[in-house]
Amino acid sequence: MKKTLLLLLLSAGFLTASSQNIPLVNGWKFKTGDSAQWAAPAYNDQGWQPISILHSWESQGHDKYDGFGWYRLHVPIPSALKNKAFFKDSIRFEMGYGDDGYDVYLNGKLIGRNNNGDIKTGYYGLCKVVVAANTPAILWDKENVIAVRIFDSGGKGGIYGDKDMFKMSMLDVMDNVYFNTDDDFTYGEKNGLSKSMKISTGSNYNYKGKLDFKVTDPETNAVIYQKTNDADFSAGRPFTYTFSIAALEQKSYVITYTFTDEKSGEKLVKTENTPYVLTPYVSSKPKINGPDVYGVRPGNAFLYKIPATGVKPLSYKADNLPAGLILDPATGIITGSVAQKGDYPVLISVHNRLGTASKKFTIKIGDVIGLTPALGWNSWNAFGLSVNDAKVRVAAKTIADKLSAHGWAYVNIDDGWEAPQRAATGEIVANEKFPDMKSLSDYVHSLGLKFGIYSSPGPRTCGGYLGSYQHEEQDAKTYGDWGIDYLKYDWCSYGEIAPSQPSLDDYKKPYQVMRAALDKVNRDIMFSFCQYGMGDSWNWAGEVGGNSWRTTGDINDSWGSMSGIGFHQEAEAPHARPGHFNDPDMLVVGKVGWGDAQHNTKLTPDEQYTHISLWSLLASPLLIGCDLGHLDRFTLNLLTNDEVIAINQDDLGKEAVQVLKKDGYLVYVKELQDGGKAVGIFNVSDKYQTITINWSELGITGITKVRDVWRQKYLITDNKAFKTSVPSHGVVLVKVSK
Ligand code: GLA
Repeated sequence: MKKTLLLLLLSAGFLTASSQNIPLVNGWKFKTGDSAQWAAPAYNDQGWQPISILHSWESQGHDKYDGFGWYRLHVPIPSALKNKAFFKDSIRFEMGYGDDGYDVYLNGKLIGRNNNGDIKTGYYGLCKVVVAANTPAILWDKENVIAVRIFDSGGKGGIYGDKDMFKMSMLDVMDNVYFNTDDDFTYGEKNGLSKSMKISTGSNYNYKGKLDFKVTDPETNAVIYQKTNDADFSAGRPFTYTFSIAALEQKSYVITYTFTDEKSGEKLVKTENTPYVLTPYVSSKPKINGPDVYGVRPGNAFLYKIPATGVKPLSYKADNLPAGLILDPATGIITGSVAQKGDYPVLISVHNRLGTASKKFTIKIGDVIGLTPALGWNSWNAFGLSVNDAKVRVAAKTIADKLSAHGWAYVNIDDGWEAPQRAATGEIVANEKFPDMKSLSDYVHSLGLKFGIYSSPGPRTCGGYLGSYQHEEQDAKTYGDWGIDYLKYDWCSYGEIAPSQPSLDDYKKPYQVMRAALDKVNRDIMFSFCQYGMGDSWNWAGEVGGNSWRTTGDINDSWGSMSGIGFHQEAEAPHARPGHFNDPDMLVVGKVGWGDAQHNTKLTPDEQYTHISLWSLLASPLLIGCDLGHLDRFTLNLLTNDEVIAINQDDLGKEAVQVLKKDGYLVYVKELQDGGKAVGIFNVSDKYQTITINWSELGITGITKVRDVWRQKYLITDNKAFKTSVPSHGVVLVKVSK
C-alpha cells in the first residue's frame, strides 16, 4: 500500500524553531519477521543487522521484502533535554517516514501507532510520537530502548528519511505556533506586492514579543526591507501582519518572518518567496492556441473546442471540415463523428472586432488518439478523497472560463467517487458525493471539455474504494454510458492478485484486460496507466495500449519530490511518441492539499517555473492538481503561457533529453516539429548563477533566433554562446531556431 496523505504535515525547511534536539540517527538494528518479545528492553538484539535509516530496508539486503520488520535503538534520554526546555510537559520522538504501518514501543510499552489497531492498514507517512514527559515508560538519564514495528506491502519498507528527520525533542513554546501565509499577494504598481499573514496558536500560553519582517534579494543578498513590530497572540486571538513592498524587479525575493517570544526567548522563523509574473498579458486580438493535430477513431464521438484568445465576442470558422463534423461558430466547439480514416487538413479561423487569426489544423481519423499530451485537471492533488460533484463543477467552469482558451480540456475525477457496493447486477455506481455522474459528464461536455475517471485493477483502489477486478468489461461499458473520455487506472490492491514477484507479463496483464474491455466500447477513452513505472513500464506500456504511463511514485509539493522525479526521466525519454507519453505525475502548483484543506504549494515561484518548464519539455501529460476555485494570478500565469504550452503540445511528440549535467545546472533539449529546439537551463544549486552555454555543447549549430518563451521575447545573442542569469532552483526556457 502506498499513500502520501501524511506527507503534507511536513513543513520542515520553511519553518524552524530553536528548541533542542537529540539525534536518533546512528545505532539502529533491524530484523525481518515479527515477535512480541522484540519490544522488550532486555531482549538481546546483538545479532541483529545494523541498518541505516537514510534508506529503506529493500535497499539494504531485503529486496522486494513485504511483511513485518523491527527496528531497535538503545539511547540515553538526558534530563537536560527537559531542563533546558521552557515547556516541560511532552517529549516527541521523530523517526522519518514509516513505510507503511507502524507501532512504536519505548522500553516495551506501546507509545504510538499510525492506525486504529490494525498495523496492516497503516499508511506511509511520518513516523512521529508524542508522550507525556512524566510517563513511567521513559528512563531519564538511563539507557532506553526504542523499538519500531513496521508492516509493509508493496512499498520500499522500513523507517527512513533525511538525517534531520530522526530526533527527540521536547514539545516547546513554538510547537503550537503557526504562521499562516496562505493568503494571496495583491499586485501593485511597478511589481509592488502586498499581503496579510497571520500567526496563531493552539496552546494556552500568551505569546508576546516581536515579529521581524525582512525582504532579501537572493541575487545580491542585499536586505532591501526590514521592519520589527510588536506582536502578541494567544489561542483564538491570532496576530495579523499586513505589509506592502514597493517597486520590485521581476524576480523572486525571500521574505523572512521571525517571531521572538520575550519571556522564553524562543524564536520561530518562516521564509516565503515572492511571486513574479512572466507571462505577458493576453492580447485582445484573436489568436488560436492548442496543438496542430488531433486524433479520433473512426465513427467515435468527436468533441474539440478550438482554443483561442482575444477580446470577446469571438466567432469561429473551419474550412474543409470532413463530412460528419459541425462547428458551432459562437463557441468554437466541433462535434460529430467521421467514418472514414484519413488525415483531414482544416483551416480554422477566429474573428473578433480587431481582426482574424487562422491556423492549419490536421484532424487525423485513425487508430491513435492522444497525439499530444493530455492537458487538463485532476482532483487528487487538490482534494484527495474529499472530491465531490460540486468541486468538479467548479474546476470545469474555471477551465472553461480561464484555461480552455489555452488548450486545457480534461476534467478528471480521481479516487473517491465509487460507492461501497456494486449494484445487484454488478455495475459500479457512484457514491453520494456524485448524485448523477451522467449529468456531471453532460455538464463538462457542454463546456466543450472532456471528462475523466479513475479506477484500479485490484478489488480496491488505493483509497480503499471499489476497484474494477473481475468487472472490467462492465466498468468499461459504464464509463462509455457515462461519456467518460479518460481513464486513470492504478495498481493498488492488484498486488494481492499478482504473484509476489511479478513477471513482466504479470505487470502487463491487468492493463491488457482493461484495454480489451475499453476496445469494446465505441468511445475514445484515453488510457492512463498509474502503476508507478513497475517493470520499467515505459518499455511496454505503449504497446499494451496506454496513452500515458506513470514513471514514478506519487509526487508531493516539495523540491525534493518534484526535482527528484523530473530530473530522472532519462531511461524513459526515448519512449515518448505521439499517442504515448511518459507521465512523471500530476502538477503541484497552486493550492494543493490532497484532502479537505488546501495550502499554497511549498514549491517556490522559481521551483514552479521549473516544474511547468520541465514537464513541458518532458512531453508529460499536464494535469493541474490545484483547487481551481482559488486560482491566484501567479498560478494562472504559469498555466496560460501559450509558448510554453506549445512546447508540451508539439506534434513531433518527442521528449527532451538531458544534454548537459554540470555542477549546479542541467540543460535539457527537446526537438520540435518546425526544426527548432526548446532548451531548458535549470539551476539546481542553492544560489543564483550566471551560466554560459556554448551552443555547440548542446549539438546546436547555425541558430539565428533565441526566444525566451516565458517572457515571449527574442533575446540578443551571438550564435556561439548564450549567457544567462538563473535563480536558484529556477529555469531559463528558450526556443532556438534557424
Ligand atoms: C495512487 C496514485 C495517486 C492517486 C491515488 C488515489 O496513490 O498514484 O495519483 O490516484 O492513488 O488513491
